[in-house]
Amino acid sequence: MKLLVVCLGNICRSPMAEGALRARIGGSPLAGSVQVDSAGTGGWHAGQPPDPRAVACARGHGVDIAQLRARQLQSADFHRFDWLLCADAQNLADVKRLAPPGHGEKVVLLLDWAGVASAPDSSVLDPYGGSARDFEVTWRLVDSAARAVVVRLCAG
Ligand code: 4NP
Repeated sequence: MKLLVVCLGNICRSPMAEGALRARIGGSPLAGSVQVDSAGTGGWHAGQPPDPRAVACARGHGVDIAQLRARQLQSADFHRFDWLLCADAQNLADVKRLAPPGHGEKVVLLLDWAGVASAPDSSVLDPYGGSARDFEVTWRLVDSAARAVVVRLCAG
């Protein structure tokens, strides 16, 4: 199983979600059988590490995402990954528009797919223009999703 988390810049939400998923999966019976990556619909930050506030927030929760590097979503991703898990409704619309014929159904909202129904529009909102507290909200959502994904996949 290969999962790709997608947001806009690939420096805040999707690397945080990638870190949370790697940590939760690594501590579960799924370790070694589920691969996780992340990408952005935009390419402005390609090659850059996550936002320092995202790195600090994840570190505060015991997860190291400092080594991740941003990249832009590419057409091969639709073939390589089983699911493209989008952070918000705009990302979902953008990624669905880019999907080749026959690959649109693997493009879903992360929170919906995980079964976490605690956010408006099932969206993880962009914390980029926000405060450290907004990054904590992001972490709570993506880590809740990561835990729910492990339960979902362990249930088969
Ligand atoms: P992300 O946040 O999509 O969660 O990585 C953003 C980061 C950068 C920008 C937008 C959103 N930007 O416009 O540069």
